[in-house]
Amino acid sequence: MTPVRKAVLPVAGMGTRIQPAAKTTPKNLLNVYDRPILAHVVAEGRAAGIEHFVFITGRGQGAIEDYFDRAFELEYSLESKGRMAILEDVKSDQLGPGQMSFVRQMEPLGLGHAVWCARDIIGDEPFAVMLPDMLMAAEPGALAQAIAAHDAVGGNVVVVEPAPPGEAHKYGIVALGKAVGRGGRLSTMTGMVEKPPPGTEPSNLFISGRYILQPGIFDALSAHTPGAGGEIQLTDAMLQRLEVEPFHALEYDGVTYDCGDKLGLLRANVAYALKDPECGADCRAALKALLAR
Ligand code: G1P
Repeated sequence: MTPVRKAVLPVAGMGTRIQPAAKTTPKNLLNVYDRPILAHVVAEGRAAGIEHFVFITGRGQGAIEDYFDRAFELEYSLESKGRMAILEDVKSDQLGPGQMSFVRQMEPLGLGHAVWCARDIIGDEPFAVMLPDMLMAAEPGALAQAIAAHDAVGGNVVVVEPAPPGEAHKYGIVALGKAVGRGGRLSTMTGMVEKPPPGTEPSNLFISGRYILQPGIFDALSAHTPGAGGEIQLTDAMLQRLEVEPFHALEYDGVTYDCGDKLGLLRANVAYALKDPECGADCRAALKALLAR
C-alpha cells in the first residue's frame, strides 16, 4: 500500500470567532501553552510519518513560513548566551528543506476548494488533511491512529467523534455501516452530510479534523459545486467518492480542542499546561488559587 507522506493544512481562514486576537497574527500561530497551535499540529503530523506539509494560506500569513524556517539571529543569540535547552526547543519545530510548500488559496471559497488547491503538489498518492483549528490531544496522535486504520483497511479514513448535544448542525456528520475493527470504533461509512439542519442528522458523530484521502477526491473537487453556506465543501466531494471507493470512520482515542473558538483556545492552553511534566503542578496550584478567590 502506498504510504501517506504528505499532509494538507488549510490555514487561510480569517479566525472570525477569535478576533481581534487574529487581526495581525495568523490564527493558527496563536499560542497553546508553549508553542503555536500550528506547531502542535505539525508535530502530530511528523510523529505520524508525514514528510511534506502543504499549507494552504491567505494574504498576510507569511509568518507561518518564517515559523517553520531557521531563525539565524534567534539561534545565534541563544547559543551565545548558552541557552541550549531553549535553542533545542526552537530548532525542534523547524522543517527541513523541501518539507513544506505554501499555496495561496486566493479566494475563501471553502474547505473543499482549499484542499483542491494542493492537487498538483499531492499528485497521485493518498494524503492526509489536518484541520489546524482542531487540536487533538492523543497518544499515539490522532493522525497516527488514522494512518494505522488506513494501513488496516485502505481506502479513505475520516476521524470522527460525538458532537456536543445540540451542536451537530455546525459540523459534517457521518452515517455509519458495520463496525470493522478497533473494538467497534472503526466502521464503514454509508453517508455524510455537511451542516445538516437540526433534527435531520444521521448520527451524532462529526468529522473532527483529520482525514486520509485518496487522490481521486480531486476529480470530485474540480467540479467546484457549492454546498452548505455557498462554500465548496470537502464533505460533498467525499460523498461523491463514496460511490466509487470505501470510506471508514474512526472514533479516535483522545480529546479535541476547537482552537478557532475563544473558550476552546483557553481550554487547550490550560489542558496542555496541566499535562506538562515541569509546569503541570504549578499550573494546577495557580488555577486552584484563582478559583478560590
Ligand atoms: C469543517 C468541515 C466539517 C467539520 C469541521 C470540523 O467545517 O467542513 O465537516 O466537521 O470543519 O471543525 P468548518 O469548521 O470549516 O465550518
